[in-house]
Amino acid sequence: MRHAQTLRKRFCLLLLAVIGLPAAALDLDRAKDVYGPCAACHGPFGAGGKQGEYPRISGQPPKYIEQQLQAFQVQSRLNLPMYPYTRERELDAEDMKLLAAYLAQIELPTRPPVFKDSDDALARLLAMEKVMIIPRAEGNIENGKAVYQKDCAVCHGRRGQGRGMFPMLVGQYTNYLQKQIDAYLQAERPHDEEGAKTGALYRLKAGDVKDVLAYLTTLQAAEQ
Ligand code: HEC
Ligand code: HEC
Repeated sequence: MRHAQTLRKRFCLLLLAVIGLPAAALDLDRAKDVYGPCAACHGPFGAGGKQGEYPRISGQPPKYIEQQLQAFQVQSRLNLPMYPYTRERELDAEDMKLLAAYLAQIELPTRPPVFKDSDDALARLLAMEKVMIIPRAEGNIENGKAVYQKDCAVCHGRRGQGRGMFPMLVGQYTNYLQKQIDAYLQAERPHDEEGAKTGALYRLKAGDVKDVLAYLTTLQAAEQ
């Protein structure tokens, strides 16, 4: 009897260790506190702003966020606004993990919420502020789809949702994505093949980038 109980207890502990408890383990108060200075550019919910000058950072896979913060800190990804916010004394490894987990769990709906009569004006305002709709971009969507599914989906996901170290591309500002692709093509930022100009982006034909970006904006709308 005792033995069975101990076993059951052990099994439960093991299960907890395996599935983890991200929601309960996340110290929201502390995370919001650490996120404070970031909101000046990335907005209160990490939705970014100024038409993509500041990227959306909520909803990204946590591993990707953490890696980028490290990259800004060691300056393997160069960015003047981001550098001071990631310097060691401002943001240590533990805070980077905390921020990554915090940002990853913020969901930004792609259509306005349906309100209940009991929702007050402030609740409505806050909920509306979270809605993030990327406007359709122009391009040949059919070609964009073919190129994306053949050359990008294997890492960024069939619906552009990202995973692990691969960023989410759907729901991100088109301008920002374009700027990053330019940076990769000029080898200012490493993409999938470090240093070598042989990765997925270098195989694209003229016009493909525009078409892929247009296609991504249709995926987000289809989510609604
Ligand atoms: C002064 C404005 C500013 C502040 C404050 C700021 N950022 Fe940024 N952040 C930027 C800009 C600009 C970029 C885009 C850099 C680029 O174009 O490559 C960026 C990029 C990022 C990215 C990469 C996104 C991606 O898709 O690759 C992450 C993650 C990020 N910031 C997190 C943070 C966090 C966390 C904080 C607070 C500790 C913060 N930022 C504070 C301006 C800012
Ligand atoms: C082999 C895997 C792989 C493939 C295939 C791939 N990517 Fe990526 N992509 C990555 C990785 C890894 C990163 C993050 C790089 C870093 O750490 O800076 C990235 C980052 C990006 C970013 C920057 C996003 C951000 O938030 O800053 C864009 C834009 C992008 N990829 C577009 C594409 C497009 C378009 C294609 C198809 C033509 C493609 N990628 C194919 C692995 C891949």
